[in-house]
Amino acid sequence: MGKLEGKVAIVTGGASGIGECMVDLFAHEGAIVIAADINDLGLEQASQKHNVQGMRLNVASDEEWEKLAKEVNERFGKIDILVNNAGISSEKPYDQIDIEDWQKMLSINGFGPFAGIKHVAPYMAAQKKGSIVNISSYTAMIGQGFNHYSASKGAVRALSKAASTAFGRQGIRVNALFPGIIETPMTKALSTSQDLLGQLIQATPLQRLGQPMDIANAALFLASDDSSYITGSELVIDGGYSAQ
Ligand SMILES: NC(=O)c1ccc[n+]([C@@H]2O[C@H](COP(=O)([O-])OP(=O)(O)OC[C@H]3O[C@@H](n4cnc5c(N)ncnc54)[C@H](O)[C@@H]3O)[C@@H](O)[C@H]2O)c1
Repeated sequence: MGKLEGKVAIVTGGASGIGECMVDLFAHEGAIVIAADINDLGLEQASQKHNVQGMRLNVASDEEWEKLAKEVNERFGKIDILVNNAGISSEKPYDQIDIEDWQKMLSINGFGPFAGIKHVAPYMAAQKKGSIVNISSYTAMIGQGFNHYSASKGAVRALSKAASTAFGRQGIRVNALFPGIIETPMTKALSTSQDLLGQLIQATPLQRLGQPMDIANAALFLASDDSSYITGSELVIDGGYSAQ
């Protein structure tokens, strides 16, 4: 029997990279998984997989979140798991970041997880049980020159703590993951520079870059009942990079 047998899960950003890997793993573990994304082609492909339903969602939209949560609950009868994974990144230097850049970053990476919790938690509360996993980043913990991206991931870190206390008494657990550099389309540009790649691997105690499955496995643990006494926790998955 799979670890998520009978569960209904929403994974945002489920059409690519880490999210896509989580969608596959959760479905393999027996869940019905809603891959929520703005990537229509990726969603079409996701919907062809067993136990996976692609649904369009811009995480920065309060209205779209409200609609999606209602629809998932009506179609599948409940919502057990939410992974707030969708995100964008940027390495723009400080002096080139304007208010539009800031607002876009914070609306997708910050408001997205907030609105997800806001609209999904009531359905979880109705069954007095639920697990929310927020994907932050190691850049929320150490200075890495990612500027407004780091700030948005710091917001996710603080939001996870706050939500774990706000919703714990309703049986909802909220935890956060802090990936290091993971090989996905997001980091593809970085990975094409062999020099940079080599330097990063050298600087990582475990001597390799992360893979989407490294994050998906941790998300599976936090989503499943194996972690039923864990809430408000922070798990860094970066090969030891930020421990130095
Ligand atoms: N890859 C890394 O090295 C790394 C490191 C730390 C944290 N993270 C975080 O992990 C998460 C996944 O990253 P990834 O590397 O898989 O990236 P990715 O670019 O491969 O996937 C991100 C997904 O989010 C979707 N998305 C973007 N904006 C959206 C929106 N407004 N609404 C709905 N969906 C939207 C994209 O369409 C895409 O499918 C992100 O939150 C990212 O910040 C990644």
